[in-house]
Amino acid sequence: KDEDIYVVGDEDIPAFRKNDWIGVDRDRRSAFLILGALRQEGLVHTIPSSAHFYDNRQLELYAAKETRRLTLRQLVYFGRSMNEDRIIKSANYVRTELPVRIAHRLREMQTLPYVVVTQEGLAKVYELYWSAFEKFRRYPQINTLAENQAFCTFLRGLLHEHATVIPNLSLGLSLSSPYLAPDRLDSFMRRMLVSRISRRVLAEHHIALSRDLQAKRDGNKSPSHNVGIIDTALNVKDSIDLCTTHLRRRPFDVDNDRGANATADWPEVIVDGHVDIKFPYIKEHLEYIIFELVKNSLRATRIHHPAARMLPPIRATVVSGENLVSIRISDQGGGLLNPQIKSPSDLFSFSHIRNAARLEDSRLGALRTVSSREQGLEATVHEQLATCNQIAKDSEESDAPDRSAPHSRIGIGLPMSNIFATYLGGSLELVSMDGYGTDMYPRLPRLGTNLEGIEV
Ligand code: COI
Repeated sequence: KDEDIYVVGDEDIPAFRKNDWIGVDRDRRSAFLILGALRQEGLVHTIPSSAHFYDNRQLELYAAKETRRLTLRQLVYFGRSMNEDRIIKSANYVRTELPVRIAHRLREMQTLPYVVVTQEGLAKVYELYWSAFEKFRRYPQINTLAENQAFCTFLRGLLHEHATVIPNLSLGLSLSSPYLAPDRLDSFMRRMLVSRISRRVLAEHHIALSRDLQAKRDGNKSPSHNVGIIDTALNVKDSIDLCTTHLRRRPFDVDNDRGANATADWPEVIVDGHVDIKFPYIKEHLEYIIFELVKNSLRATRIHHPAARMLPPIRATVVSGENLVSIRISDQGGGLLNPQIKSPSDLFSFSHIRNAARLEDSRLGALRTVSSREQGLEATVHEQLATCNQIAKDSEESDAPDRSAPHSRIGIGLPMSNIFATYLGGSLELVSMDGYGTDMYPRLPRLGTNLEGIEV
């Protein structure tokens, strides 16, 4: 109907095998490889179109440009005294910077073996990035506040469209694992993820600054220590308490082993150290990390003490040093008693050689389910916490169990926490006291003076 269908009968387009069928959409910007499997299962795979591979001139131009990396402090200083002139500058920075960052990643994807880029999930990400690159490249300069409003709507649309990039990437890379050496696979994934975080930070920060400026102009500015998406006085203990409250309300996959009242039966999470410390950071990033680490600790503690009436507590210690805010989350969940994992850092790996779970059917199935959802993973954590906050405000019974589905287990929480921690020069270290428990050490820069990671 709406597509021209070609039979590829020679080797002119090396991307395809002889006798593959492809469909190309009207504007020739994407192609669909219709596999032989179509006949059996009705499967159509979207793949990076050959047209992209042969129409790379613009991409090359952008990929040759250097990215203009920022520090958290620059984002705060620039955003603090917002006015019309500054917000327009910010808009045009985002408009011109994002296509450069995307072009770098597209170019890198093109250097991967073809069998990798065509894997389910990765092909989708490639298409999304290509489309976003073209849209940014063509977006006209922004000169007025009204044009900036339209630009923010455009950005919101793209953020939403890209919400499922992480599970799609993870699925694609897990499936590619047999074709890529572990170091190459992990360094590629790291660059993809850091760059993605960086792009979303720039887009979300700009949207938040625009919203705040509008509120100020309307005379509605409420007092807050936020500048854009940065909380300039973020309290770690508050974030730990919030994550814990929420995690303890929602069922886990191990609950069935302990009977109906299991959700109420959790180890205590004790927060000590410099509990009053406040520092400037992106709250969503800190809470993503804390949420995932505390979730792992709660689960491991429960599994390791199946018969205990009182579960041993988890201790979260917060320490503010000269340059870093360090957190130690210490549990008695048995440590890493998995003979397949040689080193704790293998848990961050997407290669099945380092982490065999990557190719397990249950993991791939869970990733497929999450990739087809509308909602992104970071958003999921953030929205869960926002809901929890609301419940806590609305009700005396914030500890009442939540009957929604158990926390999903797709194996992304730990590697993503590592990426979030390192994006602005922090770190995440994991120490296993085998047979006893695990200590996890997220460390985040306190002063905001580090540039974004080189990978952006
Ligand atoms: C992403 O989420 O992967 C992005 O690149 C977002 C950006 C297009 C605003």
